[in-house]
Amino acid sequence: MRAIFLGPPGAGKGTQAKRARDLFSIPQLSTGDLLRQAVKEESELGLKAKGYMEAGHLVPDEMVIALIVERMQQPDCADGFILDGFPRTEAQAVALERELEERGTPIEAVINFRVDPERLVERLVGRRICPNGHGEYHVRFHPPRAEGRCDVCGAELVHRPDDHEDQIRTRMRAYDQDTAPLIAFYESRGVLHDIRADGDMDGIARRVESALKSVS
Ligand code: AP5
Repeated sequence: MRAIFLGPPGAGKGTQAKRARDLFSIPQLSTGDLLRQAVKEESELGLKAKGYMEAGHLVPDEMVIALIVERMQQPDCADGFILDGFPRTEAQAVALERELEERGTPIEAVINFRVDPERLVERLVGRRICPNGHGEYHVRFHPPRAEGRCDVCGAELVHRPDDHEDQIRTRMRAYDQDTAPLIAFYESRGVLHDIRADGDMDGIARRVESALKSVS
């Protein structure tokens, strides 16, 4: 199964991609996570990407394309993958299409997460993350047992620097301008599945599962 999860910031792509990863036993490739890891390690890529990310702007295409192409070549991707947050521009979509065409392994499904834009800011402003990789919380929708602390390791939860309202608005503008046109791009390829992504997470997971099973 080779799938793309497409949608605006806060649409629930990461939340649902992790569930689908476990269900289909294929890796979830999140360019946001890969870039945050590079920033944490202070690699050359991370140092270049940091300013763009903290301001809520997209990282330049060539940097992100090189990163994901390298990741897709790893052995765990042989039976498929879920791309979470990639592609985000037409140049990225075209580069991905070429890369997969050369391998004879095209994208089979693009899940387009549709959410009322007013909900997105609320979801992102309230998101908190375990610094040790034990997952994400939300102050209202998925609160930890002890306020501000990870349920698994007790670490103090982190508020992402780009999860403040100004940066969220910038990310949403980048989505509208650069990423939303990909809906038509993938519709023209006959692989687009629209998913209503409001409401409870289990219901959304069932809709995602049914769309993915329809092509696998
Ligand atoms: P990235 O990390 O990809 O951020 P994003 O797309 O803005 O996505 P998010 O992780 O914010 O949202 P999501 O849709 O995954 O929602 P989630 O499931 O977490 O990218 C960050 C930055 O990296 C970019 O701004 C850019 O700078 C750079 N970058 C990354 N990829 C790039 C690319 N391809 N090209 C260029 N630059 C790139 O959910 C959000 C919150 O809502 C959580 O708290 C969750 O618990 C909650 N939630 C989820 N579902 C529900 C629900 N149904 N009801 C209530 N709450 C919910």
